[in-house]
Amino acid sequence: MFNAERFIEETIAKIKKEVDGKTLIAFSGGVDSTVCAALVNRAIGKQLVAVHVNTGYMRKNESKNVKKLMEKMKLNYRFIDASKEFYSALKDVVDPEKKRKIIGEKFIRVFEKVAQKEKVEYLVQGTIAPDWIESGDTLRDTIKSHHNVGGLPKDMKLKLVEPLRDLYKDEVRKIARALKLPVSEKQPFPGPGLAVRIIGEATPERTRIVREACDIVEKEIENAVEKGLIEMPWQYFAVLLPVKSVGVHGDRRAYGNVIAVRAVQSIDAMTCAFSKIPDQVMDRISTRITNSLKQEINRVVYDVTNKPPSTVEWE
Ligand code: XMP
Repeated sequence: MFNAERFIEETIAKIKKEVDGKTLIAFSGGVDSTVCAALVNRAIGKQLVAVHVNTGYMRKNESKNVKKLMEKMKLNYRFIDASKEFYSALKDVVDPEKKRKIIGEKFIRVFEKVAQKEKVEYLVQGTIAPDWIESGDTLRDTIKSHHNVGGLPKDMKLKLVEPLRDLYKDEVRKIARALKLPVSEKQPFPGPGLAVRIIGEATPERTRIVREACDIVEKEIENAVEKGLIEMPWQYFAVLLPVKSVGVHGDRRAYGNVIAVRAVQSIDAMTCAFSKIPDQVMDRISTRITNSLKQEINRVVYDVTNKPPSTVEWE
């Protein structure tokens, strides 16, 4: 049985012994990076510099909330808005693996700038076991290059610290609960953010659409959980598809985009089953998306595939 208290104690002791110098962490505000930052902060205090980069592919109000969290955790932090840079790097890029590589590399380059300025020696990453298992670090084939691993350039000058490398998500959540961090029940969100939930080019306008749809899915699912209509899914979000179809707007023909809604149950993201959502909840999600994105979306579909054969994200 995994013992969170013992893991916390041993990891803090290990970091104290092994990390000697200024250290950088990419702080997304998700469970993994928040737990990492809390552990490293306890070990080396102000020597840790937490950096939050707004890539432009964050969810609604996410960066604002992350800033508040870093303040609450009393982290020594830097907040960087690089959204314009990321949007222009992804201009005309359609291939999902290329998108991942570009975002991962850009991330590291942004950090390297901060690292040089701060004379940082170490980089903490919230990599967990499924990230590297699926990235082909062992004998397995590459399924997709995960943001935490695949984006690292070969010439990276920083020493890598990965305290959660051997853990699965449920174990990381146990640590978050033990540390009383307000993120323990947060759903996972991929490093490349909404860019992987836009099939095709991730333009600012298409990002705005998927961001709004994602927000509606999150609010409606959380509402349904609160009312006891469904169990909390492992993940629940919207995906913008690169197809258009005919619909009607009043008495006029419309030609609009399609949003796919995905909600899954899982234990460790290695496999998943699609959530069985009651019709009344699906109805509210679909109506709200097509009302609030009237000009853009005229069709909403639900993904009824398990992993395998599909994956959690679409890309
Ligand atoms: P897939 O889509 O491969 O996703 O079934 C498995 C889990 O991993 C999340 N995911 C990521 N997490 N960096 C991360 O930290 C990434 O690049 C990344 N890509 C996918 C996904 O949301 C799911 O929980």
